[in-house]
Amino acid sequence: MPSVLRSFSVLLLGIQLAFAYNFPYESVQLKESEVANNSDMSFGKLPGGIKAKCKTFPGDASWPSDERWGAFNVSLGGALIKGIPPAAACYDGPYKDAARCSDIQRGASNAVYVGNDPLIPFGQWALGNPCPVPMPSFPGSPNNTTPQFTCNITSFPAYVVNATTVKHVQLAVNFARNNNIRVTIKNTGHDFLGRGTGGGALQVWVHPFKDFEYLPSVQIADYEGQAARVGAALQQYELFPYMEESNITLLAPGSPTVGAYGGFMQGGGFSYITSKFGLMADQILSLEVVTADGRFVHADPTENEDLFWAIRGGGPSNYGIVTSAVVKAYPPISVATSSLGFQTGPVLGNGTTSPQVSNATFWKGVSVYFSHLVRVNDAKGIGWNNVNTQAPMPLFNRTERTFSFTGDFRIPGISAAEMKTFTAPIIQDFNAAGINLTNPDPAFYETYAKYGSRNSPSGGVGNRRFASRLFPRAAFVDPLSAAFNATMAAVRAFVEEGGYSLHSVDYHASLATAGYPGANSAVNPHLRAAIMHATGFDTSSYGPETTPEQQISSHARLNAYANKLREASPGSGAYMNEADTEEPDFQESFYGANYGRLLRIKKGVDPWGVFYAVTAVGSEEWVVEGTQGLPTQQGRLCRVDG
Ligand SMILES: Cc1cc2nc3c(=O)[nH]c(=O)nc-3n(C[C@H](O)[C@H](O)[C@H](O)COP(=O)(O)OP(=O)(O)OC[C@H]3O[C@@H](n4cnc5c(N)ncnc54)[C@H](O)[C@@H]3O)c2cc1C
Ligand SMILES: *[C@@H]1O[C@H](CO)[C@@H](O)[C@H](O)[C@H]1NC(C)=O
Ligand SMILES: *[C@@H]1O[C@H](CO)[C@@H](O)[C@H](O)[C@H]1NC(C)=O
Ligand SMILES: *[C@@H]1O[C@H](CO)[C@@H](O)[C@H](O)[C@H]1NC(C)=O
Ligand SMILES: *[C@@H]1O[C@H](CO)[C@@H](O)[C@H](O)[C@H]1NC(C)=O
Ligand SMILES: *[C@@H]1O[C@H](CO)[C@@H](O)[C@H](O)[C@H]1NC(C)=O
Ligand SMILES: *[C@@H]1O[C@H](CO)[C@@H](O)[C@H](O)[C@H]1NC(C)=O
Ligand SMILES: *[C@@H]1O[C@H](CO)[C@@H](O)[C@H](O)[C@H]1NC(C)=O
Ligand SMILES: *[C@@H]1O[C@H](CO)[C@@H](O)[C@H](O)[C@H]1NC(C)=O
Ligand SMILES: *[C@@H]1O[C@H](CO)[C@@H](O)[C@H](O)[C@H]1NC(C)=O
Ligand SMILES: *[C@@H]1O[C@H](CO)[C@@H](O)[C@H](O)[C@H]1NC(C)=O
Ligand SMILES: *[C@@H]1O[C@H](CO)[C@@H](O)[C@H](O)[C@H]1NC(C)=O
Repeated sequence: MPSVLRSFSVLLLGIQLAFAYNFPYESVQLKESEVANNSDMSFGKLPGGIKAKCKTFPGDASWPSDERWGAFNVSLGGALIKGIPPAAACYDGPYKDAARCSDIQRGASNAVYVGNDPLIPFGQWALGNPCPVPMPSFPGSPNNTTPQFTCNITSFPAYVVNATTVKHVQLAVNFARNNNIRVTIKNTGHDFLGRGTGGGALQVWVHPFKDFEYLPSVQIADYEGQAARVGAALQQYELFPYMEESNITLLAPGSPTVGAYGGFMQGGGFSYITSKFGLMADQILSLEVVTADGRFVHADPTENEDLFWAIRGGGPSNYGIVTSAVVKAYPPISVATSSLGFQTGPVLGNGTTSPQVSNATFWKGVSVYFSHLVRVNDAKGIGWNNVNTQAPMPLFNRTERTFSFTGDFRIPGISAAEMKTFTAPIIQDFNAAGINLTNPDPAFYETYAKYGSRNSPSGGVGNRRFASRLFPRAAFVDPLSAAFNATMAAVRAFVEEGGYSLHSVDYHASLATAGYPGANSAVNPHLRAAIMHATGFDTSSYGPETTPEQQISSHARLNAYANKLREASPGSGAYMNEADTEEPDFQESFYGANYGRLLRIKKGVDPWGVFYAVTAVGSEEWVVEGTQGLPTQQGRLCRVDG
């Protein structure tokens, strides 16, 4: 239905949603007449396509002149920012600025600082660590900086559009498409794979899209009920006050600074209440999107259906730039959590009730925890755990490698007493395995909002890489099965032989849980089948002090142990948002059976290749040059066969 008609019929029903867009910042749009005769800023015409071998890079003859960038900036009302990383202030040259340098020294590893910067991503390994922050060294050391590094500004996006209106986004997309310039999109910059940054790109910074409105009653296609209009850049911690104010529950990411409706939603998006309400992609009722031709469109189950299907789970940064959405809302719900732990090393610290056990008992205990996942999932809860390993610390009389386990169960909608009853048989199984745990008193939160807002926005930023794997629910149904044993053996090998700590979040977002319209989306079928999303961090650095050879060999080692996880879960895949950017056969692993349809949609909506992200659908047709064998994004982006 055309949007005018849709708005009209909705109005007749006396239900909210009377506009073709959600927020005032979306009412400021680019008009055809403003740019019709402007070859830099005119709209694209489908079907079309620039078939140049490579994207234009700064310094190329075809790179727009300063005058044309200046005219673009005027059209933007001055919202164009040159891509100068904050750490450039620490280096000799035109950007040197002592005050700005000490700011970045303080903020460099802080998720809030980096999230609020228009340019830099969380992990600058993704750009080849081009402008390291020289840190003041510890007291007593002779030098107060590390001067061996240099700052290479060319490796960052060349310009950023500080988008505060849809018109800004449209102008950016048009200018980039018409000039064959790479586009990157930054929301919070949390991306683990390097999908939100690239050398010489025009970066669209969507961070200002923060509006919110509660809708007590909407009808969108076959959905009727509570909902909320949400700006694309709202972060987890910003949602909880809205939930409390409106007396509702909205799905939200696990960590405070993660964006709720950017890459998180477009890759799937799991929450601690996902076994009850589904993934973030499942919450979406409608989307407002700027597409590769520069048009601003509405997508829902009955309008631009392909775009609506693809964006929900089919991967971020690839089909358009989302400016806002309408999402499902639910009545408030309580959350009960229960925690336990045990370890093989000497128990350090006061007040810990974590029993010390032998190696053999430790691994039995790990199996006991995971053997209860299906029951936890049937109760609409999740598991959340760490299987950690610590290198020997002779200073503390730890002469051997040790292991520790911490695990939680988090279940919405049950009381503390019910939770304690629920965990009793789990504790009995631990006791039977020789682990002297007592049934803990659960923590209880009256609402999910209260549970979520117990942490204020904070967190770290680092140059880590990791591997991940989805393990299917089917492998956990019978804890005596070969599939369950193979899963446990792989976890053990990864930690014990590999020396990597393993973290898993154990949720199940079935099609039944996804409901309408969530069940009909591009969410990875492997994610639908899974109950355990296991991640393993390589804590060795991919930072500026390492050589490409060191990074390649560190990653090869990690990958060899990740292969053990993969071999133990044949036919499964990985969750694209928390995965290795070099995931083998990423098409099958991240998208499963949806890949073919997604590729057709991608070619239809973006024949130019305006949007590109590593591991995105169609990205196999592109390669980044000059990365010394690393999967990084700083160089020129070229077609594989041009
Ligand atoms: C500390 C931490 C905790 C996490 N916790 C969870 C968790 O609990 N559950 C979970 O599922 N994942 C989690 N993740 C992973 C998370 O889903 C991804 O990092 C995700 O990419 C973050 O999206 P963002 O929009 O916040 O970040 P960004 O890095 O800004 O964007 C990520 C990707 O989305 C694209 N993008 C962003 N906004 C838009 C837009 N408006 N339109 C089009 N493309 C866009 C970007 O170009 C990029 O490719 C966590 C990550 C971190 C670092
Ligand atoms: C664009 O150019 C054409 C031909 O030169 C002219 O007829 C038309 O009026 C112009 N349109 C605008 C909006 O300037
Ligand atoms: C864009 O214009 C604004 C306002 O005139 C100015 O402050 C800003 O520096 C300009 N950006 C660039 C990249 O020149
Ligand atoms: C420390 O400073 C001295 C003298 O300036 C210099 O020779 C040396 O290389 C520096 N060391 C490091 C690690 O930067
Ligand atoms: C700076 O980065 C660009 C893009 O990655 C690269 O082509 C160039 O060689 C780098 N310059 C130096 C001095 O490393
Ligand atoms: C982005 O634009 C907003 C609104 O004009 C402005 O307040 C803000 O300072 C800008 N941010 C940056 C980093 O330029
Ligand atoms: C919040 O919603 C719940 C369930 O919908 C209702 O029982 C409760 O009374 C509401 N509370 C307030 C303060 O409106
Ligand atoms: C442990 O607790 C005791 C008694 O409260 C206290 O004296 C001691 O300092 C604590 N030790 C540590 C390492 O915290
Ligand atoms: C380590 O063990 C030695 C010998 O038993 C003991 O003297 C020392 O205090 C221990 N150190 C620590 C940190 O526990
Ligand atoms: C426990 O396992 C680790 C790693 O395999 C080993 O180094 C250590 O010696 C074992 N501890 C004991 C007491 O067997
Ligand atoms: C189990 O732990 C409790 C305290 O948490 C203790 O009282 C009890 O003696 C322990 N039992 C065994 C068999 O170690
Ligand atoms: C799985 O391991 C358990 C415990 O070690 C064992 O009892 C069971 O027979 C194993 N299952 C298979 C199919 O080997």
